[in-house]
Amino acid sequence: MTTMDKPKAGLEDIVATSSAICYLDGERGVLAYCGHDIHDLAKSATFEEVCWLLWHRRLPTRAELGDLQSQLAAARPLPEAIIRLMKSLPPVDGMDALRTVTSALAHYDPEAADASPAAQYRTAVRLTAQIGSVVATWGRLQAGGGPIAPDPALPHAANFLYMLKADRPDATSIRAFDVALTLHADHELNASTFAGRVAAATLTDIYSAVVAAIGALKGPLHGGANADVMRLLLELGQDAAADRVDQTIRAKLARKEKIPGFGHRVYRTEDPRATHLRRMSHDLGTRAGSTAWYDMSQRIEAIVKGEKKLNPNVDFYSASTYYALGIPIDLYTPVFAVSRISGWTAHILEQYANNRLIRPRAEYIGPTYPQRVVPLDQR
Ligand SMILES: CC(C)(COP(=O)(O)OP(=O)(O)OC[C@H]1O[C@@H](n2cnc3c(N)ncnc32)[C@H](O)[C@@H]1OP(=O)(O)O)[C@@H](O)C(=O)NCCC(=O)NCCS
Repeated sequence: MTTMDKPKAGLEDIVATSSAICYLDGERGVLAYCGHDIHDLAKSATFEEVCWLLWHRRLPTRAELGDLQSQLAAARPLPEAIIRLMKSLPPVDGMDALRTVTSALAHYDPEAADASPAAQYRTAVRLTAQIGSVVATWGRLQAGGGPIAPDPALPHAANFLYMLKADRPDATSIRAFDVALTLHADHELNASTFAGRVAAATLTDIYSAVVAAIGALKGPLHGGANADVMRLLLELGQDAAADRVDQTIRAKLARKEKIPGFGHRVYRTEDPRATHLRRMSHDLGTRAGSTAWYDMSQRIEAIVKGEKKLNPNVDFYSASTYYALGIPIDLYTPVFAVSRISGWTAHILEQYANNRLIRPRAEYIGPTYPQRVVPLDQR
């Protein structure tokens, strides 16, 4: 390597691959899946249509959508052994459970090692169906309830809420959760998708690549931020006076602490997903009879914008949205995965279809070469 090859910290603005899946314009705040603007999809498409779009690069016909819905419904029941495994785990973090259980799912998929594109596509559909079931079942078990069998008549969002709460969700909750799934489905070369593509580029199996992605999503700089946002709101307390909120946030900023749910590597303007989640947080709070968390979020947004010129990202208002939907905090990041599995698998399939091993270089900054090996008793 020459001195011209200085690495860019965090690979910022480095174009690492070509992809036909997600268009992102950080200056203008544009996010589009296969050319379809996220605002249009949030308004007019369901999560299942978005899955098809990401996997096939076009929206499905009615017949194709019906087929996909049937395939997802058929794949949702979890093997008994997987439910037993979940019951046997200690009460670990939801993302740790998801990572372990997703890895175990491979052992019950007869096609897990089949590298044909048709089998890989079927595995992508199965994983998308099953990760929803795993997260909902984990939530049930952690709440002390028994697992709920999926209802094949329900769409993905409705079935998730049903399996989580053992109760038929109302239309507003279903629509809100469905939009949340659409908003989280893909985001170009975010850290977890990149991790998944790097793993896939070794021609490992889809499960291994998805487990790599889950591990990356867990971190507080990525998907873990949504749960951290809610913990911050709860720490302040629903009845916190406005000046206490102001003081706490300003003190954190003064200590150079990061406020979860703000900032983004790519967006220089509002994250278009946050626009929807802000409105959903408000509407769901209003419906539940209290906008306290929304109001507090607004206050925090004003301070962070004023002090640091940072906008909320997808995680900030998803916290109060999920809270209003009655989703336990430990499931916030796993719920991100319930959606993002569609984007991960789309990228993994794209990687397989036109693969080259991803193997960059590092600038060497260690001890000068060559070093003499001093005999052990002389060191
Ligand atoms: C998303 C994130 C990782 C992007 O990171 P990045 O592009 O590497 O940006 P940096 O961490 O280098 O931050 C640049 C500057 O903004 C500040 N900053 C970034 N995010 C901040 C936040 N959430 N709160 C306070 N300050 C923040 C940094 O402290 C840094 O300030 P400095 O230049 O004075 O040192 C970062 O904004 C962050 O950590 N956000 C909080 C976690 C989060 O919400 N993650 C979910 C992302 S969708």
